[in-house]
Amino acid sequence: MPIKAVHELFIHELSDTYSAEKQMTRSLPKMAKHATDPELAAAFEAHLEETRGQVARIEELAEAAGLKLKRIKCEGMAGLIEEATSMMDQVEEGPVLDAALIGAAQKAEHYEIASYTSLILMAKKLGLAQAVPLLQATLKEEQATDQKLSVLAEAQQIEQAA
Ligand SMILES: [Fe+2]
Ligand SMILES: [Fe+2]
Repeated sequence: MPIKAVHELFIHELSDTYSAEKQMTRSLPKMAKHATDPELAAAFEAHLEETRGQVARIEELAEAAGLKLKRIKCEGMAGLIEEATSMMDQVEEGPVLDAALIGAAQKAEHYEIASYTSLILMAKKLGLAQAVPLLQATLKEEQATDQKLSVLAEAQQIEQAA
């Protein structure tokens, strides 16, 4: 069935993001395990906990709005995770792999930031008032994670240059 209405698109995009979050809950533990910098590993662990909450938040949102999530796979996130996994296979553990992991994680965060930004806009247009604050709460967590990763990346460059 082709998607014709914005509310159908919203359900599709929400289901896609749900899949992306679930994929992240499986990828973040691997990234934490391969990180050498304990602060980076801790950041991945912390975001894993947050991400589990984000999965639950989407379920809560769907239930509150009376929406049924579709079983779809987010191919965008699958591709980003595949790239991160290939970095873990190709790069020796240490500062260089840490830099690669930060880069890969930031790509995933930016993907999520774009997804939530567009979901919030659609929710507003559809008058899904109860969904907006939930989506905004997750967006803030994604933005804060991206910021934290930028700080770690900056700190790492200083260390390397010294
Ligand atoms: Fe997320
Ligand atoms: Fe995230």
